[in-house]
Formats: sequence, C-alpha cells, structure tokens
Amino acid sequence: MKLCIEGLTFAYSSRTVLEQINLEVNSAITVVIGPNAVGKTTLLKCICGMLKPRGRILLDGRDIGTFTGKEAARIVGYLPQEIYGGTALTVLEAVLLGKLHSLRWRVSDDDLDITLEVLEELGIANLALRSLRELSGGQRQLVSIAQVLVQRPGILLMDEPTSNLDLQHQLEILTLIKRMTRERGLITIIAMHDLNLAARYADNIVVLHQGRVYASGRPASVLTAEVIRAVYGVEARVSVDGDGVPLITPVRSVRDTK
Ligand SMILES: Nc1ncnc2c1ncn2[C@@H]1O[C@H](COP(=O)(O)OP(=O)(O)O)[C@@H](O)[C@H]1O
Ligand SMILES: [Mg+2]
Repeated sequence: MKLCIEGLTFAYSSRTVLEQINLEVNSAITVVIGPNAVGKTTLLKCICGMLKPRGRILLDGRDIGTFTGKEAARIVGYLPQEIYGGTALTVLEAVLLGKLHSLRWRVSDDDLDITLEVLEELGIANLALRSLRELSGGQRQLVSIAQVLVQRPGILLMDEPTSNLDLQHQLEILTLIKRMTRERGLITIIAMHDLNLAARYADNIVVLHQGRVYASGRPASVLTAEVIRAVYGVEARVSVDGDGVPLITPVRSVRDTK
C-alpha cells in the first residue's frame, strides 16, 4: 500500500497550521516529530478524515475523501492523543467496541478470539473484566491501543502512543507495532516526541517545522545535530550506536534560531 499526500494545507479558521505538505508513505513505520503545536495531531486527523484539508490524500491512487465512513473505519485505525476513560465499561467490552464496524447483533467467536489475542499481546488480558474507571493512565493507554489493533486496520495512525507508558511498556508496544507493521504490511504513522525511540523504531522520520516538512528520510540522515538545533532550538550531541541507530543527547537550549 502507498499513501500519497499532495499539497496538504490546513487552517483552523484563519490560522494556517499545515502548508503544502507533500509526503509519500509506504508500508513501514513513519514517525512524525516536531515541537509542540507544530501540527502533528492535525496531520493525523487530516489523514484519518476527521479534518478536511485542502490538497489530496491518495491511498493506492484513490482519494480517501471518497471512502464511505464504514470503509474508512475498516481501513484506518486511529489512536487519539487524548484518551477518555470515564466509562463503566469493562476492558473486554471497550476493546470489543473497537470492532464496532464489523460487529453484528451477536459477538462471534472470531471477534472474541481476536479481542482476547490482542489483550494477550498487550499483556492486559488480566484486566479484561476490570472497569475502565479503575485503571491507571498507562493501563488505559494500553486499552486504547488494543481498541485500534482489534480493527486490524491497514493504516495505523498513533498519536503519542507511548506518552503514558513506563519504559518497559514503551519498548514492548513499539516492538509489537513494528512486528505487526512488517507482518501485515501496514502503513503505520506515529507522532512522538522521544527522538531516541523514534530513531530506534522508525523506518522513516518526517520532521515538521513551521507548518512544513523540514526534513524526511531514514533516521540517521534526518536526526542530525543541525536539524535538531534548527527545529527544536536545542544543541545536541548525536552519535551512532552499534546497530547504526542515532543516539541523541540534548545538551542545552539555544534561543538564537527564531
Ligand atoms: N480545534 C482547534 N481549533 C483551533 N486551533 C487548534 C485546534 N486544534 C489545534 N489547534 C492549533 O493548531 C496548532 C497545531 O496543533 P496540533 O496539531 O495539536 O500540534 P501538535 O500535535 O504538533 O502538538 C496549535 O497551534 C494548536 O493550538
Ligand atoms: Mg499532538
């Protein structure tokens, strides 16, 4: 599968946030980085159809604006940045609801099998009968990730999926997403802040800066001290570890970049 974004421009009323974004995204993990408020969430919302930008977004040549709501729900899995957890549903019920587009009047054995499999993979099967209200922020985040994965989407959009998770869960979730992306040929786009996690798990990185794509490509070519200084206003040391993955050590904030 291939997703082509052509001349994407988006404004909230009169304030333009994204301007002339052109991107080609293949079946792989693409991580979108950039400072707070640069438009990462806005870009993901445009791709999943929640926002209507100018320009075109084509999936294998077809404009995603022409997908019906049901088609889009089946193809695109979207994990929002903010997660609402104030319901009395159990974890199992909430995750089954992630399959809403395919559920009929009765829940089939297949639906239940897939749901339990995803709960197992995320290590939260033990929470299946607990109410969402009783969970910690990190546990709720895992439930939200499960809700997206049970849809078996072809395009996986995740907005800061690891922001509430401890170090072990961050690594486990990203490893799982990487494996699923490979095995199922998914187009996976993840917005995140942690440059070292991005460096390790991304096949490609897209850097947003002032509404535009400032740089994109392999982690080692994009995550340079120059780019980090220009985009974040931070002086950083960048080395390369034994796997060829860039390692970023921030040193100090520099304010001369504006
Ligand atoms: N619903 C909205 N209405 C108006 N402005 C918004 C809305 N959502 C986001 N913005 C603004 O758009 C810009 C980009 O936001 P966002 O895409 O959430 O950035 P990021 O995810 O990179 O932090 C910010 O300046 C933000 O204040
Ligand atoms: Mg955001």
